[in-house]
Amino acid sequence: MAKTFTIAVDGPAAAGKGTISKAVAAHFGFAHLDTGLLYRAVGAKLLLGMEPITAAQTLTAEDLEADDLRSPEVAQAASKVAVIAEVRAALLDFQRSFARRAGGAVLDGRDIGTVICPNAEAKLFVTASAEVRADRRFAELAASGAAISRAQVLADVKERDARDRDRAEAPLKPAEDAVEIDTSEMKIEVAIEAAIAVIEAKQAG
Ligand code: DC
Repeated sequence: MAKTFTIAVDGPAAAGKGTISKAVAAHFGFAHLDTGLLYRAVGAKLLLGMEPITAAQTLTAEDLEADDLRSPEVAQAASKVAVIAEVRAALLDFQRSFARRAGGAVLDGRDIGTVICPNAEAKLFVTASAEVRADRRFAELAASGAAISRAQVLADVKERDARDRDRAEAPLKPAEDAVEIDTSEMKIEVAIEAAIAVIEAKQAG
């Protein structure tokens, strides 16, 4: 049977953890779960008027394919439902079983190394300054035709950072044994190489 190997990738919004996680998963042939999508799907249901705990408890695979999960409004709603302990609890088992699937898994989020998979074989904490992250997110949103200013994107990033970091339940913070990669002044290819090197070192021993 194929072995399990869990890679936890945490960090704030738009630090590059999604891109790094996808590339790392492809490199090692592991499955990848963007756990932010789970909270975004619950946030999207909140915006449609659904009670968030019920939404989390009844979430389906189809919900993860809803339109607009990447919008700034859904991102803020995701960050709001993510403070609710019962919402987090409802999403826990799915994430843990994904992490232990045969063949290896990469999970990216805010609390993977600290709460979901404290025993992950490799842990990364991907960061960048709020300004750099806002610039990246603004470029993405502008390219997709969204009508939003850079100042608004920076304010959103800071608001979401504060909510994600200061919450009582599973706040955003590096696990003690996580290796930090600051991508503020790094090309994404270099950050991916750095991540792969960390994981290869863990695999070796
Ligand atoms: O990674 P993202 O930007 O798609 O995440 C959206 C929100 O979901 C984020 O602001 C906080 C929440 N989240 C969380 O609390 N825990 C996770 N593991 C992933 C996301």
